[in-house]
Amino acid sequence: MRLDRFLSNLPRLNRQQVRLLLVERRIRVDGQAIGDPHHEVREFSRVEVDDEILQAGRPARYFMLHKPQGCVSATRDPQHRTVLDLLQEPEVEDLHIAGRLDFNTTGLMLLTNDGQWSRRLTQPQAKLPKVYYVETEQEIGPQYAETFARGLYFAFEDLTTQPADLQLLGPRSARLSIVEGRYHQVKRMFGHFDNKVLRLHRERMGPLVLDDTLAPGEYRPLTRDEIIRV
Ligand code: URA
Repeated sequence: MRLDRFLSNLPRLNRQQVRLLLVERRIRVDGQAIGDPHHEVREFSRVEVDDEILQAGRPARYFMLHKPQGCVSATRDPQHRTVLDLLQEPEVEDLHIAGRLDFNTTGLMLLTNDGQWSRRLTQPQAKLPKVYYVETEQEIGPQYAETFARGLYFAFEDLTTQPADLQLLGPRSARLSIVEGRYHQVKRMFGHFDNKVLRLHRERMGPLVLDDTLAPGEYRPLTRDEIIRV
């Protein structure tokens, strides 16, 4: 929300007072004096007027996890361990997953409590590439790349998938880049050719690449540079 709107929504400030406070640079957002009425205030921002706290804010948290096989991309599951069980962090129930993976899919998983950030990463309109390493049961034919680039019709959602880029790595292995995250999308794309996916590993989501020093099941906080790249 814009800073001037955030301030005007407070019952004790009218628009004129808000304008004055901004001109006098008496408002601080995350410790910085701000005069710009368009400055973005988020639920995590700390907002103060002089020395009075208007919104305490809370720290935004961002983690990169190397998801192992046999683990559910959910916050709770009655039967299996979940990705949240792998995080030794306080208040893990505050975190959500930015882009789920199937039970046996491995690789890059991002967890955060910042909904705006995860939406930017996952919404199909943003067209951020999600890159997967794929191994299949049958050989990957020369017609796959063209079909994936054209898009495949998914009857259940009544949509055609966005163009995807397939690079063959071997007779049964490839790197696939897709810009959406439809339900079981990669498996369904190979399923179009009756070719079963045996191994699926996410390497990248937009600008974020799985850290190869993380073993399956390990995680680390994102760096500041990684957070602002999204
Ligand atoms: N596509 C799939 O089919 N499964 C995943 O886990 C991710 C993408």
